[in-house]
Amino acid sequence: MNIAVIGTGYVGLVAGTCFAELGHDVICVDIDKEKIKILNEGKVPIYEPGLEELIAKNKGKIVFTTDFDDAVRKSTVVFIAVGTPPKASGGADLSFVENVARGIAAAAKKPKIVVEKSTVPVQTCERIIQVLDCNDGDNNGKCIKHIVVSNPEFLREGSAVKDFLNPDRIVIGSNDENARKTMEELYAPLKAEMVFTDIKSAELIKHASNSFLATKISFINAVANVCEKTGADIAMVAKGMGLDKRIGPSFLNAGIGYGGFCFPKDVEAFIRISEKNGYKFKILEEVQAVNKFQKENFVKTIEDALWNLNGKTIGVFGLAFKPNTDDMRFAPSIDIINALLKEGAKVKAFDPEAMERAKAILGDKIEYCKDMYAVSEGVDAVLFLTEWKQFVEIDLDKLKKLMKDVFVFDGRNIFDPIAMRAKGFKYESIGRL
Ligand code: UDX
Repeated sequence: MNIAVIGTGYVGLVAGTCFAELGHDVICVDIDKEKIKILNEGKVPIYEPGLEELIAKNKGKIVFTTDFDDAVRKSTVVFIAVGTPPKASGGADLSFVENVARGIAAAAKKPKIVVEKSTVPVQTCERIIQVLDCNDGDNNGKCIKHIVVSNPEFLREGSAVKDFLNPDRIVIGSNDENARKTMEELYAPLKAEMVFTDIKSAELIKHASNSFLATKISFINAVANVCEKTGADIAMVAKGMGLDKRIGPSFLNAGIGYGGFCFPKDVEAFIRISEKNGYKFKILEEVQAVNKFQKENFVKTIEDALWNLNGKTIGVFGLAFKPNTDDMRFAPSIDIINALLKEGAKVKAFDPEAMERAKAILGDKIEYCKDMYAVSEGVDAVLFLTEWKQFVEIDLDKLKKLMKDVFVFDGRNIFDPIAMRAKGFKYESIGRL
């Protein structure tokens, strides 16, 4: 099948590449000339395991271009996968989505199946339909009837290719039989469970899923705070809870909270769209409050232990919002580091992939180390903010020898508290004594 994917961000690039892997002919479009140039040189503008190799493998089946009109005209299905960043008001900025819809309306000379894949609030497809309905028409001025489908994407950064190719479910929102059949064909090689819904329900599934996962994280973080107060151990509590099949073990890792470009933005956007439609989604407001508290409380723990932060040097292990990505957007590390700097601490940090992106945000306010052991040289304390594999496997004896004082603040519960204290570290983690 001939497919155009508009937008080569995480979702667009991964989806486009994976569709090529499934045997389709894909044209990936972006207005960013530099990005397209990089992609045409066989490189990938983001760090995503396996993606570069998969693009190389499917070289003949995937084209990268800035020629939007040509891509639309050559394709049966056009995916919208552009960004929906947060506006200052908290709602999603849908202007890129609108522009793409207008572009399709202007370029298409035949009916298209227009698939909305960007994460958008419920009722967005209605707007897309509205835009497509006032299209320029075919060469004879006759109006063209495009079909709009909502097909949300659930991939995670860091395991995006794997997630796309092994989905738990594929959600297809459309009441049009032909569109459903086409979508079924498109995804058939994945042999995954397909959920067919109306358009609005599909849109809601995406926001509701991300918000539910964020709620799960904030819930376990709230329980961790009670554990800290009462002397219980969150790891054991989470294990005991997660074995209940109705709860499940995933997303029960307590820590410094969720970050990234999806959860913070989508929870906020879901609150806004609910409010706009007359419902105050108070649970989600509390989810946000807990997430903020986790970072503040972590800094307070550091302050309580070190007394004065002014003039102290703190080493930071991990800057990315989670392992296996270079993404720094809404990373908890940013707020935590800024709070430490405000108190007069000196910060040096290392991240295996996110150093360049971190520099763009934190600038020269912190020192960037060449490797993870350089982080610990002569410091009063170290923080673990991202659970990269190499940090999990760090030589703890070497770490201890290099540090001036031996405070370890583990924001991701990587290490065993008893073992750490037995090694002589002054060790603090989340929700465990
Ligand atoms: C998320 C959704 O999982 C994905 O389905 C959606 O398409 C996009 O948003 P992503 O943002 O890539 O994916 O990361 P995810 O692995 O879900 O983690 C999000 C954040 O939650 C990270 O900061 C992570 O550290 C944190 N997290 C996750 C926890 O603090 N505890 C957990 O138990 C799980």
